[in-house]
Amino acid sequence: MGMSEQEKLCNRPIGVFDSGVGGLTVAREIMRQLPNERIVYFGDTARVPYGSKSKDTVTKYSRQIVRFLQTQDVKAIVAACNTASAYALDELEQETDVPIIGVVKPGAKAAIEATRNGKIGVIATEATVSSGIYNRYIKENDENVTVLSKACPLFVPLVEEGLWEDPVTDEIAERYLTELIDVGIDTLILGCTHYPMIRAAIGRIMGESVTLVNPAYETARELKQLLHDNGLESGHRPGLGTELYRFFVSDAADKFQKFANSILTYGILSAKVIAIDKY
Ligand code: DGL
Repeated sequence: MGMSEQEKLCNRPIGVFDSGVGGLTVAREIMRQLPNERIVYFGDTARVPYGSKSKDTVTKYSRQIVRFLQTQDVKAIVAACNTASAYALDELEQETDVPIIGVVKPGAKAAIEATRNGKIGVIATEATVSSGIYNRYIKENDENVTVLSKACPLFVPLVEEGLWEDPVTDEIAERYLTELIDVGIDTLILGCTHYPMIRAAIGRIMGESVTLVNPAYETARELKQLLHDNGLESGHRPGLGTELYRFFVSDAADKFQKFANSILTYGILSAKVIAIDKY
């Protein structure tokens, strides 16, 4: 018996994208929480970082990536990048006919649930902080909550250099985070895809009484719900011969692969370079 149209639809992969390697922390959560789902990941390694670029540029890049992912026949898309979610998600949602979610809303929601004293901190790239988006989402949900945001631009290069457990990272973290401790936040959103990798260092500085929210975890949960609500869940693990995860980048596939293997327990077979500006 052949596969029904609905089954075919459910067997299509999830598109996940980021400015580079950071979104792998989100892909990893999706792999853990939705093991039946196939993933097509795109990392924009030629144009990273997004966190210091303008809204127009980030939107243009994100749009090209969404077009590419649609050529891969994806059934849903996850903007696994805080900066792209902050700057481009509204436009992308309007233009795209497959469901698309970002990482900001799920992170904001989790933080509201976690806070007890109504003081939430957000650490992110300069772009995400200046977009004010975490602030907006949180206030929309609960106007009594105070939000303090802090850009931490040095964290991304520290993570990419592999200095996850290093006195330099602890020192920089202390400089960035002291003001958040001083205002007495009890919840801190790791509002950039790279930050979960230095969660231990951030936790050491903030102390045990501060809850760290990883939007990657919440995003995978929201994706699960979205697939369920739209009848798009894959009911079984894809058959033999079907590639579960595929990776594409815009440059430097070897470097990406090495980094990916330090994050994902699943060893990635290969990453393919594509010309993203053609899309
Ligand atoms: N992925 C980006 C984010 O989550 C961080 C890296 C970048 O600046 O491109 O905001």
